[in-house]
Amino acid sequence: MAKKAETTSAKVKGSTGDAPRPRVRGAQAADLEQVIDIDARITGLRKREYWAEILRRYGGGRAQRFFLVAESGPRIEGYVVGDVRDWEFGSPPCGWVFGIAVRPDARQAGIATQLLEAICDGFRRHGVTKVRTLLARNNHLILSFFRSQGMMAAPFIALERDLD
Ligand SMILES: CC(C)(COP(=O)(O)OP(=O)(O)OC[C@H]1O[C@@H](n2cnc3c(N)ncnc32)[C@H](O)[C@@H]1OP(=O)(O)O)[C@@H](O)C(=O)NCCC(=O)NCCS
Repeated sequence: MAKKAETTSAKVKGSTGDAPRPRVRGAQAADLEQVIDIDARITGLRKREYWAEILRRYGGGRAQRFFLVAESGPRIEGYVVGDVRDWEFGSPPCGWVFGIAVRPDARQAGIATQLLEAICDGFRRHGVTKVRTLLARNNHLILSFFRSQGMMAAPFIALERDLD
């Protein structure tokens, strides 16, 4: 899976120099420290156990599961995590993206677009024709990104309550 998700085309969108486009590939244990760092810059939390578990469950080309990174030389520029879920919420199998992030100094160069395309290619190979995600309604940045990728409001609502 990870092998097929690799992309190698010419240049980063909007770059003026010769900066090559990052390579998208399956995440490995050696990437975790940088992934944890990117996540921590966004959330303020270093979640070592969480990311080790994500690698265990989604890394290594597991069937229907994807943990991809965008790599420029020694730097991990961003990551995406998702899977194909069968008949969850009563809907036919579809791809779910539940985490995507790019290092702050590498943003607005098309890297998240490249990561989303790579994971969508993986979803397509599993025969699904739809991709979904869930996001915080006040996260305008991630909303702008997903809208730019053609994603629209889905016919679902999220519900929650406190557990005493
Ligand atoms: C959202 C995010 C992944 C976008 O990564 P990126 O590599 O900069 O995105 P791209 O360069 O591929 O941008 C694609 C499109 O997204 C939109 N977009 C990206 N950054 C934007 C910004 N700062 N403001 C408005 N729109 C933006 C634009 O439409 C852009 O297309 P354009 O460059 O042609 O205008 C990145 O900003 C990020 O990591 N943010 C924090 C993520 C987060 O909060 N994750 C937690 C929830 S999973």
